[in-house]
Amino acid sequence: MAKVKTTFFCQNCGSQFAKWQGQCTSCKQWNTIVEEVIQKEVKANWQSNEKSKSRVSKPTLIHEISSTTEKRLPTSDQELDRVLGGGIVPGSLILLGGEPGIGKSTLLLQISLKLPYKTLYVSGEESQKQIKMRAERISQKNSNCFVLTETKTQNIFKQIGEIEPDIVIIDSIQTLHSDYIESSAGSISQIRECTTELIKFAKESGTPVLLIGHITKDGNIAGPKILEHMVDTVLQFEGDRNHVYRILRSLKNRFGSTSELGIYEMLSDGLREVSNPSEILISKNADELSGTAIAATLEGARPLMIEIQALVSTAVYGTPQRSTTGYNAKRLNMLLAVLEKRAGFKLAAKDVFLNITGGISIDDTAIDLAVIAAILSSNEDEEISKADCFAAEIGLAGEIRPVNRIDQRILEAEKLGFKRFFASKHNKISLQNTNIEIVLVSRIEDLVSHLF
Ligand code: TYD
Ligand code: MG
Repeated sequence: MAKVKTTFFCQNCGSQFAKWQGQCTSCKQWNTIVEEVIQKEVKANWQSNEKSKSRVSKPTLIHEISSTTEKRLPTSDQELDRVLGGGIVPGSLILLGGEPGIGKSTLLLQISLKLPYKTLYVSGEESQKQIKMRAERISQKNSNCFVLTETKTQNIFKQIGEIEPDIVIIDSIQTLHSDYIESSAGSISQIRECTTELIKFAKESGTPVLLIGHITKDGNIAGPKILEHMVDTVLQFEGDRNHVYRILRSLKNRFGSTSELGIYEMLSDGLREVSNPSEILISKNADELSGTAIAATLEGARPLMIEIQALVSTAVYGTPQRSTTGYNAKRLNMLLAVLEKRAGFKLAAKDVFLNITGGISIDDTAIDLAVIAAILSSNEDEEISKADCFAAEIGLAGEIRPVNRIDQRILEAEKLGFKRFFASKHNKISLQNTNIEIVLVSRIEDLVSHLF
């Protein structure tokens, strides 16, 4: 029997140490270093056959490599296809991360039920009955979807060999364990070993593998960072659990852009693709109310019209309250200071609440102008027309600054029937013959004179 080898891993960052120590020298966390058994001698791959041993790759001149675009398997889910860059690339490994209960298992089960291929859904978290119950809720039919409840990679590969699926889904990587490593499932060395085995399988058989990954309390995918380096694509499923909208984002994609994004709505019968997000994010209230303004923002590469609501009221306590939902509170304070100092609005003794509807949060500074418009509208108690929308950044001197991809934002606003678009005077707009009136402003006073 080979000598048992052990080594020490930090369970937080995955660094490896020769001996135990109290604090990890690389991530500075205490008590995270754990001894794990590694048995290097008997390393086997998913299929110890001759074919893989004899395959030696040779260097090829770059211009001799055929550049035909990768064949992709469309998933019949337009949002996922868009995020992946046009479908699943054969032999690729895709990692899907997200908070517990956000809907990762639902999304991948739904996709395996929708696909016109033979799929194998491997679950180490739920029983077959639970998966069946979930499938009944989703009510999609695929007679070629196999369910396996198994956590040992060697057994999974045995079943894969028998069924020969076109796509394999693993829920989740943290529940898998391999016989060649002795530490418990979910530990750094197990995750690394199981991922290596899955990559080998995917690359050699050309079968794509979709993995679900848990995330830690600070939002990173649990396990070593190397997991994200090893896979081809890292997707993140996010959203507020109390709201119905979910956003699928790609953080890394070897076969497409990372700026695309998919939006879903969680319904009682599974996830619904939202193909026109702007329509749902703007309330269809017929009357015009003070304190709301529409911003033309970008989520990834996708233009999105969102509604901003502000409430400005006299502070009842000595210190006025400032509270935001879906928007950076520091940025709100900055905008309030600019309004006070540069435009002469007395807001220091007022409570200001700001809310981005739909439960999504926005980082784009191009919504500054809409935020200011909403605050002023609430402060003056005068409504802004529902036909107006805004896209510009505010500088500390109170100047209205240009934003990127203005044409794309204008086109989206036009598509949704807006009549006036407020932008910075310094923005270069190359669009011509639009049906939307473009109002160019350079100072907050200009905005005020147009609106009220
Ligand atoms: P789940 O996919 O189990 O989350 P994860 O795998 O990311 O932990 O999602 C579970 C949540 O989704 C649960 O709170 C119930 C809800 N849900 C629906 O609202 N509608 C549905 O059709 C399904 C299947 C789940
Ligand atoms: Mg799950």
